[in-house]
Amino acid sequence: MDQNQLKQAVAQAAVDYSLTRIEDDSIIGIGTGSTANCFIDLIAKHKHKFQGTVASSEGSAERLRGHGIQVFELNAVSEVTIYIDGADEANARLELIKGGGAALTREKIVTAVANEFVCIADESKWVDYLGMFPLPVEVIPMARSYVARELVKLGGDPVWRDGVITDNGNLILDVHGLYPMGSACALEEQINQITGVVTNGLFAIKSADILFLATQQGIVTHTAKA
Ligand code: 5RP
Repeated sequence: MDQNQLKQAVAQAAVDYSLTRIEDDSIIGIGTGSTANCFIDLIAKHKHKFQGTVASSEGSAERLRGHGIQVFELNAVSEVTIYIDGADEANARLELIKGGGAALTREKIVTAVANEFVCIADESKWVDYLGMFPLPVEVIPMARSYVARELVKLGGDPVWRDGVITDNGNLILDVHGLYPMGSACALEEQINQITGVVTNGLFAIKSADILFLATQQGIVTHTAKA
């Protein structure tokens, strides 16, 4: 199977799993990226089985509406039953790097609200140690240079993702040179302490609850170890 077929397979696994978790009044959180897009396209035929969705990006919201699926403002819902999203890297602790699509802040917010966070990825995303993929950091525009200097002090090599403005009107710094990452939780906290950082793409303090990984041998299910 090529990478696209793996993404389709893992998205189908997430649809099957979601159908066991949702009820008529459920809200599904929808992530961003090509794997999340596969999920959107596949869940569309089950749209009568849940109330609607919240989306982690304008792009995903538009795709959902294109399928006739209702998209709610997060402030208008009291509960998100399940959140489905991809990742740029995932390790055995189900700690993730996300934000390749610049949607990390809204992704983190929906993750915080959701009862369950299901990550879907193809096997190319599975790593022993995080940090080979440059860590995205969303930054308030006027703080860009200051934050970059602080990230250098933490051992990183930040690169401004030129031309990209997030859905929140901010900038992205991609931090290289963090491989092999030690404590992802500690680094997530340290970076978030820098004034001007909105959030960073480490999902370690709140990692995924379950990871469906598409491999050439089939879908492998990983759950967080205690
Ligand atoms: C977007 C993300 C995506 O989940 C991540 O970049 C993976 O994308 P894809 O499914 O296209 O490989 O974090 O901000």
